[in-house]
Amino acid sequence: MRQVKSLSCGWLFREDFSEDYLKFQDPKLFQTVNLPHMNKEIPYNYFDERMYQFVSTYVRKLDIPPEYQGKRVFVDFEGAMAYAEVFFNGHLVKTHKGGYTPFSAEITEFLDFAGDNTIVVKLDSTERPDIPPFGNVIDYLTYGGIYRDVSLRVVSPIYIDNVFAKPKVEAKVATELKTTVFLANGEEKSLQGTINIALYDHGSLVAQSEQPFYIDAHTKSTVDLDIDRAHLTEIKLWDIDDPNLYELRVSLGVEGKVLDEYAVSIGFRDADFRTDGFYLNGRKLQVRGLNRHQAFPYVGYAMPERAQRKDADILKHELRLNAVRTSHYPQSRHFLDRCDEIGLLVFEEIPGWQHIGGAEWKEVSYTDVRLMIERDWNHPSIIMWGVRINESPDDHDFYLETNRIARALDPTRPTAGVRCHRNSEFLEDVFTVNDFSHSGGEMILDTQESWTNLPHRVPYFVTEFNGHMYPTKRFDQEERLMEHTLRHVRVQDAAAKAEDIHGAFGWCAFDYNTHFEFGAGDRICYHGVMDMFRIPKFAAHVYRSQVSPTVEPVLEPVTLWARGERSIGGTLPLVILTNCDYVDVFLAGEKVGRFFPDRERYSGLEYPPIVIETIENVGVWGCTWFDGEFVGYHGDQEMARKRFAKDPVATELVVTPDDTELVANGQDVTRIVLKVVDQVGNLLPYLPESLKIEVTGPAQIIGPEQVTLIGGCLATWIKTTQEPGQIRVSVTPSTLSLVGKSVDLVSKREEG
Ligand code: GAL
Repeated sequence: MRQVKSLSCGWLFREDFSEDYLKFQDPKLFQTVNLPHMNKEIPYNYFDERMYQFVSTYVRKLDIPPEYQGKRVFVDFEGAMAYAEVFFNGHLVKTHKGGYTPFSAEITEFLDFAGDNTIVVKLDSTERPDIPPFGNVIDYLTYGGIYRDVSLRVVSPIYIDNVFAKPKVEAKVATELKTTVFLANGEEKSLQGTINIALYDHGSLVAQSEQPFYIDAHTKSTVDLDIDRAHLTEIKLWDIDDPNLYELRVSLGVEGKVLDEYAVSIGFRDADFRTDGFYLNGRKLQVRGLNRHQAFPYVGYAMPERAQRKDADILKHELRLNAVRTSHYPQSRHFLDRCDEIGLLVFEEIPGWQHIGGAEWKEVSYTDVRLMIERDWNHPSIIMWGVRINESPDDHDFYLETNRIARALDPTRPTAGVRCHRNSEFLEDVFTVNDFSHSGGEMILDTQESWTNLPHRVPYFVTEFNGHMYPTKRFDQEERLMEHTLRHVRVQDAAAKAEDIHGAFGWCAFDYNTHFEFGAGDRICYHGVMDMFRIPKFAAHVYRSQVSPTVEPVLEPVTLWARGERSIGGTLPLVILTNCDYVDVFLAGEKVGRFFPDRERYSGLEYPPIVIETIENVGVWGCTWFDGEFVGYHGDQEMARKRFAKDPVATELVVTPDDTELVANGQDVTRIVLKVVDQVGNLLPYLPESLKIEVTGPAQIIGPEQVTLIGGCLATWIKTTQEPGQIRVSVTPSTLSLVGKSVDLVSKREEG
């Protein structure tokens, strides 16, 4: 039976490479690191992005017990930036171009059962022009290092190489489960046996099917199996509100012995792209999403499972999105697994940014299409494959081929490809375009026809808007924050109203580090509705408020509640992002009005904002100023209350960990949010408080220990150090009137 072991801990690392390291590695000359790992920690901003662009060496000793004899042994890499040469016991066993796709190095031939076994990776993290996305400028960083997990896989000479389950749903009923099982036979002889697939619902068997197979010596081959409608009558569909998942266990038997088992998680859903809209399980669904870069402060892409899953949770549960675009590359399997579990639709695309390279580069891109689809085809959350380089010009032959590869591999999902030029050749199944028409004026989104120039309607999504049209920092001036907010309101509203636009993905979820040619010059693109720490700007609440108040009442007036903040003074017009039916406003305890959402202007949104143009006594420069209070109602029931102090004073340091229980095995992380609030609990966006963070117990801080709040708030992540035990994070402010805080966490060892 197969064995899979994590190899994520205990690597030796050096920031250079020499042929000598292939033969002998003196541990004293190396640093010990765990994966995911970035080859060089970077500052928050204003760094030289060439600092991580170098060739490095990763070394790991492998334990090879005698029972591996007669087995095939692989080392599986989930992602290493950007070109890897893998050596095992001195032999080159694998090369891989591309930092976003997985690769496996087979080491069977060179196993040494009597001596030491060592894997060495020479990793080139420079921006090589033969590998997408490189070759021209790019508006994001690609970082460096083995930044995803690595594991050891031990299988029998014949084994299951992959499984593609194709659940089918028609008229809201599961009607079929066709499955292709990919076999690899490393034996000297042909073999015959049986493949069994068994469908489980939380551990109980739903249905199964069996097929005999025959496979020649030293070949790969496939076996097709089917579970029919009669056995699927109890299946609950996968949907965004009710993401039911099933487990498909596949086993391979030869002469009555089970030689391999393989399990995938699947969901039954019908994603139908019609010319009049997108339908999920027969229900028309307006897609409302944001783009996600997988980058974090200090360590770039190198964040483990928990942080990946948390991002999906933020998008689904904090921002109430129904979709995400993995701009501009395949993202962590942990992120995608979580999207499956919580019902977040995914548009996944191949790596690239505007530039198309030469023949060698295109070969890598074809491989990217194949590896992305073969890795991810069982995710019910993924609804379409992006097979164009984001915003690249037309290239007929190239895109004919990327489309052909995708359709041949996966006939169940449509292709798409993001362009930003008009009249581009439409070779895909779904037309996707970045429409940056809205620049604050009357024009919000252009029509489908103006982009496609086709005489007929096609399935159509806007895959970016806003972004560089209106970069906004979380701590920008209030008027800018309001306009940033309203641009998201206007575009999502217009997209929902337009019959020819089936959904819109805003640019973007989180601010991200970028090259010097882009962003604010400090290597940050401030395009997110949240900052790099995933702390919301006001625009985040546009999305957050699109949920029933009975699920989560939202009441966020877009104001710092200070009359000298805006030009000429005052706080009007005042936008309130809310899902309440109406909001009462009080000044110094006196009710001054009841206000309702602007359903007329923003009828495309289920929960449009309230826009208050006038309130007596508010908005006049220099007159008396009051405490403010907003009370939101659903029917006649009070749902939410928000207070503002007329004279905010830094009152309390608040330290909030996302999790209090971590896992000691491998590398676990959690985010700790730090902020100083005033006497009524509001963040103080211009407070540059400096804080010292100390950690005791089996954990370390990621990034600096001495920090200054950015826009009144900041987060840090801590990572576990493989020992179980109590962790204490203590934060000491520099202002004497503020009291330090500490939080306690625990790191526990997980069995198995
Ligand atoms: C788009 C591009 C994105 C990002 C965005 C900024 O053109 O596709 O990656 O750079 O602009 O608004």
